[in-house]
Amino acid sequence: MSYSIALNFEDGVTRFISCNESETVVDAAYRQGISIPMDCREGACATCKCRVESGDYGLGEYIEDALSQDEADTGYALACQMRPSSDCVVFIPTGSEACGTKQQSYVTRIKDVRQLSDSTFALELQSDALSALAFLPGQYANLQVPGEASHHRAYSFSSMTARGDTVTFLIRNVPGGLMSGFLSERAAPGGELVMNGPFGSFYLRSMARPVLMLAGGTGLAPFLAMLDKIVAAGGSAHPIHLIYGVNTDRDVVEIERLEAFTRAIPDFTFEVCVVDTNSCYPKKGYVTHHLEPAHLYDGDVDIYLCGPPPMVEAVAQHLRENSIDAASFHFEKFAPSIS
Ligand code: FES
Repeated sequence: MSYSIALNFEDGVTRFISCNESETVVDAAYRQGISIPMDCREGACATCKCRVESGDYGLGEYIEDALSQDEADTGYALACQMRPSSDCVVFIPTGSEACGTKQQSYVTRIKDVRQLSDSTFALELQSDALSALAFLPGQYANLQVPGEASHHRAYSFSSMTARGDTVTFLIRNVPGGLMSGFLSERAAPGGELVMNGPFGSFYLRSMARPVLMLAGGTGLAPFLAMLDKIVAAGGSAHPIHLIYGVNTDRDVVEIERLEAFTRAIPDFTFEVCVVDTNSCYPKKGYVTHHLEPAHLYDGDVDIYLCGPPPMVEAVAQHLRENSIDAASFHFEKFAPSIS
């Protein structure tokens, strides 16, 4: 038996999928090329939270942090756990464009690989099939480590798809890391690399107010893609400020590109801050040391943050302690994988 599930997206688009008995909504949607935003797939993160507007279903297994009893009582569910037992209408609090890109696998060739700094590689992949790839600026792909079929790594696209048949990434050099070892020792133009994607719920929403971007290390990558998109859209009606934090001067990359964005987007500004007290950059310390009221517009600001978990937690704590209630706060944590 299967059920008809209507997915109503935030932008008003409705899509119907069939959901087999005992299948979750996330799995059914995914099988039919619709990627509902999710992270853990275990009922723990709440990324997939949706609102069931009609129908019968089981809530599945989850933790209270992800779905409270009040929410469950008022029709909310976790799409990664929800199993329909009748036809349903489900509101997905995300635009259809964010979900409409079916996960696809691409066999690509390395067009270019360069070590931009001790800590960062730039990787460019090419394939005719990539000309049709669509992703939202800020999203990521999984790259399979060549020769290690069961190992893949998630990296944010560092440019939007307008570059024809190529995509680019910034990749952190992790000592002892499988991908880092491949890139530094074996990767060469023409080599094959399998990419799956796009994925992720960290993407640039429609810009209705000032935007503050906070990047840590290679967490700069998704912002480069977002800024590419803003340039392609003809600029921004609202100010955009980026604070780019790194550990040492040697970690600073893509400065020329950021400077080019300041010329292409009149309302875009950026600053670099470096933890190392011997840095030649004037701003030293962590990103949180350089968050100023002028960046926060008394909370009328959309904040995007991408960096390692301690940075994400420090920024969230800073906002809490200073009673800054931003209009929206989107973040992406990344942690290095070795094995
Ligand atoms: Fe994390 Fe569903 S994806 S709760």
